[in-house]
Amino acid sequence: MHFPSLIPFLIPLSLLTLINPTLAIATQASSSPSREAQYQTLPSLRESAKIQDKWRDERVENIPNILRRWGVDAWLITQREYAEDTAFWSLKSATQFSARRRTISLYIANPKEGTPSAYTWIDNTPEVYTSITHVLSSQNPKSIAINTHPNITFSSGLHVGELRGLYQNLDRKWTDRFVERPMVAVEYIGTMVKGRLEWYRRLQETAWAMITEAFSERIIEPGVSSTEDVEWWLRSKIQEQNYTTWFQPDVNIVGVEPIFGPPDAIQEPLVSRKRDIIQYGDMLHVDFGVTALGLNTDTQHLAYVLYPDEDESSIPSGLKAGLAKANRLQDIVISNMKVGTSGNDILRASLDQMHSEGFEGKIYCHPIGDWGHSAGTLIGMTNLQDGVPVLGDLPLLNRTYYSIELSVEHFVPERNATMMFYQEEDVYWVSGEKGWEWVWGRQEKFHFVKTKSGKRKAVAAEAMSGQEEL
Ligand SMILES: *[C@@H]1O[C@H](CO)[C@@H](O)[C@H](O)[C@H]1NC(C)=O
Ligand SMILES: *[C@@H]1O[C@H](CO)[C@@H](O)[C@H](O)[C@H]1NC(C)=O
Ligand SMILES: *[C@@H]1O[C@H](CO)[C@@H](O)[C@H](O)[C@H]1NC(C)=O
Ligand SMILES: *[C@@H]1O[C@H](CO)[C@@H](O)[C@H](O)[C@H]1NC(C)=O
Repeated sequence: MHFPSLIPFLIPLSLLTLINPTLAIATQASSSPSREAQYQTLPSLRESAKIQDKWRDERVENIPNILRRWGVDAWLITQREYAEDTAFWSLKSATQFSARRRTISLYIANPKEGTPSAYTWIDNTPEVYTSITHVLSSQNPKSIAINTHPNITFSSGLHVGELRGLYQNLDRKWTDRFVERPMVAVEYIGTMVKGRLEWYRRLQETAWAMITEAFSERIIEPGVSSTEDVEWWLRSKIQEQNYTTWFQPDVNIVGVEPIFGPPDAIQEPLVSRKRDIIQYGDMLHVDFGVTALGLNTDTQHLAYVLYPDEDESSIPSGLKAGLAKANRLQDIVISNMKVGTSGNDILRASLDQMHSEGFEGKIYCHPIGDWGHSAGTLIGMTNLQDGVPVLGDLPLLNRTYYSIELSVEHFVPERNATMMFYQEEDVYWVSGEKGWEWVWGRQEKFHFVKTKSGKRKAVAAEAMSGQEEL
């Protein structure tokens, strides 16, 4: 209900473009969710484990395809309890909490007929190397990928001790066949099986529901509540809903005065930390994510604190225009996210298009899924707008999820100042022409805190003491 779309859905885009070119941008923005976000209850732990293991089995079955695509015959992963390879966390079953003893997995691209493509040993004796040697001898892979890449987290999880163990215990015939194929782990970890989307959407909806409630008069009392109160309210809410998270929620007041020094001395000089008590007329910003079922979300939204008795129509139009500009940059980035293109090329094309349309902003998108910042190419980082070494040169993969994270500058006449408008929203890859779609939707309207004069609620005080009502 907070986000009814102003533009009718039924008018074809092409027609609107003909009538009024300025409307075209607004019409692309019909990606606003069609209903208000609700809290989505998670399945029981037992049911969750079943769901996750089904996804995991499907992913493991896909490994031979990945190996063949990147031209390698086998993939070897070895680790000891508490010193796991990064890839382990995407390979394990739901009831595994760590590797045990020495846990070794071997995957074969083209197994001999009638033999498996996946092997796992859990052992604490040198016997395990004999067992591996048996399989290697019968499968005879010409190249064996190991996770020793110097720059890519997800392809570098082989501990040095394990590598030494391999060299000590395997014949040179096999260790000479070790190669680095970083895209194997990147594609394995980054690829999302279809069944995950239904749940990812529920997670995303829940994150929106939490933000919508946090940025409301139920939780925020202007002049009383601090940004930190809202952050901890979000943490409590996550716990109450049986979710977890992968980073501390970050709530701040988007200000106009740099406080850490001159604008070029700091990444985001326009976020004011001079004051943390929320006041009427503030524009608020949140960076927030939830974790459940082995998936992570990442969202940044904006809110406006109305003066008493104002309604949504009182939100300054300069702020609304800033948000619309951020929406425009989202469209630009997504239109450039062609599978197979490198993150750096997508970044360059998007920044060029943004400049040609006459505005300024920053792009820093990342893959998301098993990890908040997951495996795959990066499309900019806040401090690397000319390209990201190594990670930005990887090709964009299909069947992945991405966080479209960015900010734009916009002059707000009502404030006589240029302000930053931050947005972050998750998308998933769709086969065919479509490209990418919002998992739940994107923010096109401000969240708002609406207070009545003389009617201050005790809710904010409750929230601060952590005893919020349902
Ligand atoms: C790792 O990163 C460094 C610094 O960017 C670069 O010089 C080196 O070539 C990279 N190595 C690989 C294998 O990507
Ligand atoms: C959270 O988990 C507890 C324990 O299983 C359960 O009683 C409660 O209903 C769950 N809450 C939500 C919101 O799912
Ligand atoms: C994803 O990309 C790979 C490699 O380009 C291709 O082989 C595969 O068919 C694509 N998958 C889908 C579902 O389009
Ligand atoms: C707007 O800001 C500029 C630059 O800071 C200043 O010179 C100007 O006087 C301001 N205008 C108003 C109406 O306050």
